[in-house]
Amino acid sequence: MSSASIPSPFCPLLILHFLALYLGRDSTHSPPAVNHRPLPTCGNPPSVPFPTEAPVSRPLKMTLEAQSAAIAARFDYTDEQVNSAVNEFRRQMTEGLEKDGTSLSQIPTYVTGVPNGTEKGLYMAVDLGGTNFRVCSIQLNGDTTFNLTFSKVAIPRDLMVAKTAQELFAFLAKQIELFLQTHHEDHFEQHVRRRMTMSSPDGYKDEHVFRLGFTFSFPVQQVGINKGTLIRWTKGFDIPDAIGKDVCALLQDEIDKLHLPVKVAALVNDTVGTLMARSYSSPGKTGTVLGAIFGTGTNGAYVEKLSNLKKPLSGEYDKTTGEMVINTEWGSFDNQLSVLPNTEWDVALDKASPNPGIQMYEKRVSGMFLGEILRLVTIDLLKDPKVSFFKDENSSSNDWKSTTNIVSDSSIYTQWGLDTAIMSVAAADNTPELSTLRGELEKQLGIYSAGLDDAQAFKAIANAIGRRSARLSAVAIAAIVLQTGKLTDPANADEPVDIGVDGSLVEHYPYFRDMIYEALSAIDGIGEEGAKRIRIGIAKDGSGVGAALIALVAAGMEKRLTTADYLGELRSNAKSNNLTVVPEDEAARD
Ligand code: BGC
Repeated sequence: MSSASIPSPFCPLLILHFLALYLGRDSTHSPPAVNHRPLPTCGNPPSVPFPTEAPVSRPLKMTLEAQSAAIAARFDYTDEQVNSAVNEFRRQMTEGLEKDGTSLSQIPTYVTGVPNGTEKGLYMAVDLGGTNFRVCSIQLNGDTTFNLTFSKVAIPRDLMVAKTAQELFAFLAKQIELFLQTHHEDHFEQHVRRRMTMSSPDGYKDEHVFRLGFTFSFPVQQVGINKGTLIRWTKGFDIPDAIGKDVCALLQDEIDKLHLPVKVAALVNDTVGTLMARSYSSPGKTGTVLGAIFGTGTNGAYVEKLSNLKKPLSGEYDKTTGEMVINTEWGSFDNQLSVLPNTEWDVALDKASPNPGIQMYEKRVSGMFLGEILRLVTIDLLKDPKVSFFKDENSSSNDWKSTTNIVSDSSIYTQWGLDTAIMSVAAADNTPELSTLRGELEKQLGIYSAGLDDAQAFKAIANAIGRRSARLSAVAIAAIVLQTGKLTDPANADEPVDIGVDGSLVEHYPYFRDMIYEALSAIDGIGEEGAKRIRIGIAKDGSGVGAALIALVAAGMEKRLTTADYLGELRSNAKSNNLTVVPEDEAARD
């Protein structure tokens, strides 16, 4: 049939052509633009090719639903992309084990074993990692259980960007003092008394000082179990004066100024703490292989074979286990963006962040940033005159028969003004009217009487950002599981591959772990069967308990004396120095 043939009235191509012309009309009902090309005809085979260009028409006015679906699709991260990211992650892991200064830092921690649950003792831990500073004391009971007492204080924003490191660390030491006075008054008083009853220069015996594990959740170049210099700040902290300094010494100096009976015994990243805590609480035949945080920031620490660690180590460590815990600092995976997704909103977020070009993986995964991505998308939609998002022409277009209003000082207009927590509300709200989410939009962002369509659009975009984060999280988990070889190791055949996680995202974002599992089962070398063997469990308070466990290991490296030894030694010292010794129980009494 030639191009001049009469088209059949049911020819699907022709119907599509008219439909396109019809849809091309905008709401002012102007006539469709005329297309002077000959009408396409159906037939086989055409003697001349069909036109491949779309007919000229006016731009479509997309509905909010279609617009939000299109934006959500921009956050898709396909199985294929996930797989190539896993390969790249593994490549960058190897690179980081071989040399310094790589994207994935792969920092050796000098921790050469994981606990088995039998450890005992009373330790202290402090945790500086994001929004809060936590001080805790942990009684390890030696039977995989522990008792934890803690206090938590929000870190004032001005201290996160203080002029000197000393300002921040003085604040931290003060919190330790308050904690001791509140929760360990006896111990605290006893030590003050000891200092007063002995006139030796030290004042009291080192062995009776609390060993403190310092969880410091920023990239640190560790050179020993209680020594490490800050490489860079992340998560909104920015105190340039601290870069390159030993953070343990900074804290110890301020503790000493307050004469507290506390020794910073171990420096721990929160991921290492999580790994330790999980290993302590749920020891399996092979122990936990990965500790990961999906919270304000994200990172993971895993157990690596010493033989794979090729870059030189400066500090002392125990070589007998043949393993060492590595802090990957995976927040900086693929800073060069060879496999990470990069929407215009990711670009905008990075540009306006305090650390452009770094922590690129973290900026797509962790809690601090997801809300900001959603905020940037929301602002773009609000500015788009073609889209009716959080605006009503009049009350008839709003299902609550009101008009949507955004207060002029809404935090939606400010950087970091959208708390990621609202994404959890969006994901969890399955009520027909999305009334919980709409209530939250009002409470948190001053968006009054949002319509159902607005809330649905907001939810669809938020869910897409959350889902992308979970799928990206699966990339890091999968790469490390594959690296450990545990899934194929015959010695581990019937054992689960245990992973400890902590952080607000993995704990509170609905279905986060399910979405990780879904992605894991699509990864080569894991698949559905492998995914079933990967056990991802929450290690609550991991960083505190883990830091205490490492402080225990560190204390074991020092000379340890029992109370009897202590008193004996004290008496003999006193005799030789002609001092008066008040017995311990007496000192405690008065
Ligand atoms: C830091 C890591 C930390 C992670 C989770 C990241 O920003 O660089 O050291 O482990 O946040 O707190």
